[in-house]
Amino acid sequence: MKEHTILVVDDSRTNLQVVRDVLEKDYTLQLAISGEMALKFLSKKKPDLILLDLMMPGMSGKETYQEIRKNPENKNIPVIFLTANQDEDVEVDCLNMGASDFITKPIVPEILERRIGKTIELEDLQKNLQGKIAQKTQEIETLALQAIGAIVHTLEAKDEVTQGHSIRVAGYSKAIASEIGMDAKMQEQVYQTALLHDVGKIGIPDSILKKKGRLTPEEYDQIKGHTTIGANILSAISAIGYLEDGARYHHERFDGNGYPRGLSGEEIPLIGRIIAVADVYDALVSRRHYKEAMNEATARKELLSGAGTQFDPEIVKVFIRLLDKGTIDEIKRQTTLPEENVR
Ligand SMILES: [Fe+2]
Repeated sequence: MKEHTILVVDDSRTNLQVVRDVLEKDYTLQLAISGEMALKFLSKKKPDLILLDLMMPGMSGKETYQEIRKNPENKNIPVIFLTANQDEDVEVDCLNMGASDFITKPIVPEILERRIGKTIELEDLQKNLQGKIAQKTQEIETLALQAIGAIVHTLEAKDEVTQGHSIRVAGYSKAIASEIGMDAKMQEQVYQTALLHDVGKIGIPDSILKKKGRLTPEEYDQIKGHTTIGANILSAISAIGYLEDGARYHHERFDGNGYPRGLSGEEIPLIGRIIAVADVYDALVSRRHYKEAMNEATARKELLSGAGTQFDPEIVKVFIRLLDKGTIDEIKRQTTLPEENVR
């Protein structure tokens, strides 16, 4: 079974015949008598290598080469030029354009065979390496995501009252992301980022987090620090660069009166504006150390009254739509542990 396909482009039928005689036993060959014909073939199939005559009437080898490379899908197909010209400048020119190699005519069968063999071998190695890199990258990401899972568990274990909050906020945020048209990959990023929005609370004393009465201004300042602490923790996960914005910006307000930076409107990264709505909604309808759970209708009103001041009005609109569709309830049902329902 011949593994590799080579596209041979030459205006001389004699040359095509010579190449065919030499390479036919090892490769599947596609022969083209002009640049136009080569391009037509390339629009249907991608060979593993292109052998391209430089001097052709009509579309020259150089022009054909440039046309081939215009299509990003053809960017990585190695091209070897066939040149009758012994002039060194032409050869340097070919290599500068990005050709893998050049072979001078008249064709010496052994040289043709060896050069093609080497280029194909190199190409295979490179593809193999790319595959391995992709696999390793995937492994690193999986590892980082497992670490995230462990961090979230640590945070949730700290406080039984807020248990499940991170997972619900992540679910709601992902639903918002999907509703505003983000693709699946972005939605996943939003989910992971939202999952970790409160991770900085690891650095806040329990005496403050679980306090039943009013917080003193100093205590409130300390609580506010969870945004920056969280962002700093997450910036250490360098394999995933997008995580820290969620922690940093989820308490910014649309009118600029939030923290830690006091950004306003679209200055606040979108992820911050998304998590803000998801976070507050979940906090409203859940029990907290300092308050009882609010019913859904009242929470809805709260969100609407904060649209444009506390929240991005567009995100509130989207969230209300998700509430109407029952999406939010469904996520809540799926992510809430059975014992949490007993209140
Ligand atoms: Fe928070």
